[in-house]
Amino acid sequence: MESNYQDRIPNNVDLGSNRTLQRALEHWQPEFLNWWHGLGPSDFNASEVYLRTAISVDTKGWATFGYVKMPEYRWGIFLAEPGTDRRIGFGDNYGQPVWQQVPGEHRSTLRRLIVTQGDTEPASVEQQRLLGHTAPSLYDLRNLFQVNVEEGRHLWAMVYLLHAYFGRDGREEAEELLERHSGDADKPRILSTFNEPISDWLSFYMFTYFTDRDGKFQLKSLAESSFDPLSRTCQFMLTEEAHHMFVGDTGIGRVIKRTIEVMKELGTDDPEAVRKAGAVDLPTVQRYLNFWFSSSLDLFGGDSSSNAASYFANGLKGRPDEERYEDHVATGQSYTLELPNGKGGAKREEIPMRNAMNEVVRESYVRDCEKGLARWNRLLEEAGYPHRMMLPSTRFRRTVGSWANIPTDLNGKPIGAEEFAARETEWLPTENDRAYVRSLMHGVFERGKMAGWIAPPERGINTQPRDFEYVKLP
Ligand SMILES: [Fe+2]
Ligand SMILES: [Fe+2]
Repeated sequence: MESNYQDRIPNNVDLGSNRTLQRALEHWQPEFLNWWHGLGPSDFNASEVYLRTAISVDTKGWATFGYVKMPEYRWGIFLAEPGTDRRIGFGDNYGQPVWQQVPGEHRSTLRRLIVTQGDTEPASVEQQRLLGHTAPSLYDLRNLFQVNVEEGRHLWAMVYLLHAYFGRDGREEAEELLERHSGDADKPRILSTFNEPISDWLSFYMFTYFTDRDGKFQLKSLAESSFDPLSRTCQFMLTEEAHHMFVGDTGIGRVIKRTIEVMKELGTDDPEAVRKAGAVDLPTVQRYLNFWFSSSLDLFGGDSSSNAASYFANGLKGRPDEERYEDHVATGQSYTLELPNGKGGAKREEIPMRNAMNEVVRESYVRDCEKGLARWNRLLEEAGYPHRMMLPSTRFRRTVGSWANIPTDLNGKPIGAEEFAARETEWLPTENDRAYVRSLMHGVFERGKMAGWIAPPERGINTQPRDFEYVKLP
C-alpha cells in the first residue's frame, strides 16, 4: 500500500479516501499534542533530537534518522502489508479466512483488548516524563526520547483501530486514553505496573527490559489475531519495540559493567565501598530486578483463566509464534499448574490447556528474560566474580493469579508473613536503596561524556560515533 507521509497524519491506510475517519482523527490529533505537551517529556521540546521516524513499513522507510524536535515528530499510522489469503491460525475457527471487520459477537472483547494495550503506551510516557533531566549522557537522553515518541506512535496505532472499526464507542475510548493518567488517584492507568513511578534510570532500564518485554509478548499474541487490522498493526509495532528492550538490556549491562570496573579498582565487592565510589552495588541491582520482574509477571493475567481460554477459542488472541506449535486447536490437552496447597507448600493440578494460555505465554516470557541475565552474568564471570544475577521464582511477590498475596522467598518457597516482612529489605528496593540511586541521578549533557555510575555503550546509534551529538540542546 502507498504511504502518504506528506499528509497531516502520515499513514499507509489510505486515510484520504475515508473523509469521516480522517476528520475524526484530525480532531483527536490536537488533543494528543495537548497531552504530549502536558504529560510527555518535560522541558526538552525545543531540543533537536536524533530520532528515527517510521515513514513507511518497508526496510528503507521504517527507520528514517534525522534531527527532530519532539512535538514535530510525525506520528503516523502504519500497518504491516496485508498477507495474501491469510487464514486464522488457532482456535475453533482454525483455517478459515481472517476478518477484515470486527464480528459483532466479539466487538466488546476486541475493543477491551485494544484499549488495554493502548492504555499502556501513553502510560509509560507519563511514567518517564521527568527522566530527561537526569540522563547519564546525550546518547541515553536520545534513547529515552526515541522510546517516548514510539510509545506515542503505538497509542496512535490503537486509536486508529478504535476510530476505524468501533464507531462511536471507539471514539469515546480514544478520548479516555488521554484522560486516564499514570498514578492518578481518580483515573489511573488500567494495569498496575503502569502506575508505578519511574523516577530513576535504573528503574527505566528495568522497565524497558522487563515491562517492554511484556509488551513484546502481548503484541506477539495480538499479532496472531483473526482480526487482521489488529494483527498487522501489532506486527509493525514489534519492529519498533525491539529497540526499547535493547535500551533496557544494554542499560542494565552497562550499569553492571561499570560496577565491575569499580569493584576491580577498589579490590572489593563490598556494597558500601561500591556506593562510596559512586557505582550501583550488585545487591541493589538485583533488588530492582526482583521488583520489576515480579511486577511485569502480573501483566500476563491469572494462571488459570477462562477469559484466556475464550480469547483462544474465538481466535482473538493467540500464543506468540503460534506456527511453532503442533496443535493449533489445543482441545483435549492439559497443562499442569503448581498451586499453593495452603500448608506452606505446592500441589499440582491439571487444567485444560486453553485455560492455561496466560501461563504458556508467561513461560516463554520468562525464557526470553533469561537471555539478558546470561549476558550480564557472562560479564561477571569474565571479570572473575562469583556473583550472579538471577530471576526470582514466578511465585515471588505476585498480586495476580494463584500465588497472589502468598509470601514466598526468592526461590518460591512459601514462608510466613513475618518472615517475608523481616527479609523484604534483602529482596526488594528499600527507601535507602532508592535514595542512593536517586543521589546518583544528575544530567550529563556534555557531548561524549558519561555519568560515573554507568559504562559507555559499545557503539552508537545508526552507525554514528558514541560521542555524536545525539541531542542538540537549545
Ligand atoms: Fe509500545
Ligand atoms: Fe515499548
